Amino acid sequence: MIRIALLGYGYWGPNLLRNFHENPRCELVACCDLDEKKLAKVRARYPSVHVTADPAVVLGDPSIQAVAIATPISTHYAVARRALEAGKHLFVEKPFTASASEARELIDLARARGLLLMVGHTFEYSPAVLKIGEIVKSGHLGKIFYVSMTRVNLGLHQKDVSVIWDLAPHDFSILFHVLGEKPAKVSALGRACIQKGIPDVAFINLEFPSGVVAHLEVSWLSPSKLRSVFIVGSSRMLIWDDTQTVEKVKIFDHGVNYKDPETFGEYHLSYRTGDVVSPKIETYEPLYAELDHFLTCVETGSRPRTDGESGLRVVEALELAEESLRASLR
Ligand SMILES: NC(=O)c1ccc[n+]([C@@H]2O[C@H](COP(=O)([O-])OP(=O)(O)OC[C@H]3O[C@@H](n4cnc5c(N)ncnc54)[C@H](O)[C@@H]3O)[C@@H](O)[C@H]2O)c1
Repeated sequence: MIRIALLGYGYWGPNLLRNFHENPRCELVACCDLDEKKLAKVRARYPSVHVTADPAVVLGDPSIQAVAIATPISTHYAVARRALEAGKHLFVEKPFTASASEARELIDLARARGLLLMVGHTFEYSPAVLKIGEIVKSGHLGKIFYVSMTRVNLGLHQKDVSVIWDLAPHDFSILFHVLGEKPAKVSALGRACIQKGIPDVAFINLEFPSGVVAHLEVSWLSPSKLRSVFIVGSSRMLIWDDTQTVEKVKIFDHGVNYKDPETFGEYHLSYRTGDVVSPKIETYEPLYAELDHFLTCVETGSRPRTDGESGLRVVEALELAEESLRASLR
């Protein structure tokens, strides 16, 4: 039985606690948050969990093998560093760190200490993303031309980070997983509409070594909630609409046939619209699968699918997008 502690019980931490609590392979023994009100909630809901406002209590307990971090992004590096120095296997929520240099330091530290480091790219454990990854890798869509992604809704405006650091980690991790490559170029345009200096809408462009181009729109200022991914290939096209409850993924046997013209003036494009198929997608909670994978890696010493390097790839892209967006702000 793996003994775990959770650091950070704000908006997302309760989901981690619930999933660890439900998993018979581990015991969530302690929860630390700097805010006493948050600790009172843990106490009321999980009386067997030890609560503390002092991270040293958790990190100094030799019976705790692993810690999960769900504190604000700006604190990830310092909290994670202390945990690794205390000899704990580590699960850090996305985005891994607030900079690529911090991410590299933590990867080196974990390696030097022989400790596990996993980043919470939850969508890489979602049945829809795993299915889409399989479909793309199988070549069913043909050669991928481009990807278009949208993640917009009204709120929640963050106080300390832009919409890029808040929302784009999800799409970047999905994109890099599905394409199996990292971008060669990232640029962005955006605007801080509500809070001065904190961009709440961004349009991000990415170019990949294979030639794939991608576009991502992220916003906290949108009339409706949209979560969509369009993947256009030379043979077929795919749409994933994560706001749907059924038939979230659809594959369109649509495309364009190009024929070299035999005579001058001959029209050489023909559009093909064929069947639309919705593959069966399993239903389970991605977060449970993600944390279960973490436990397996702690038990077996195997490398997590979303390890520090995968966290670093996402952070590098976030940095490039943020830098480009800041340059675009007037
Ligand atoms: N995987 C996902 O789908 C997903 C979804 C939402 C948020 N997140 C991530 O989870 C993390 C937390 O986000 P949130 O929205 O819950 O933030 P939040 O601000 O709501 O909660 C953070 C909590 O951490 C506590 N805290 C701050 N510093 C601490 C410290 N040093 N030790 C212990 N506790 C400390 C705060 O008191 C607060 O209760 C972020 O990295 C965020 O990106 C992931």
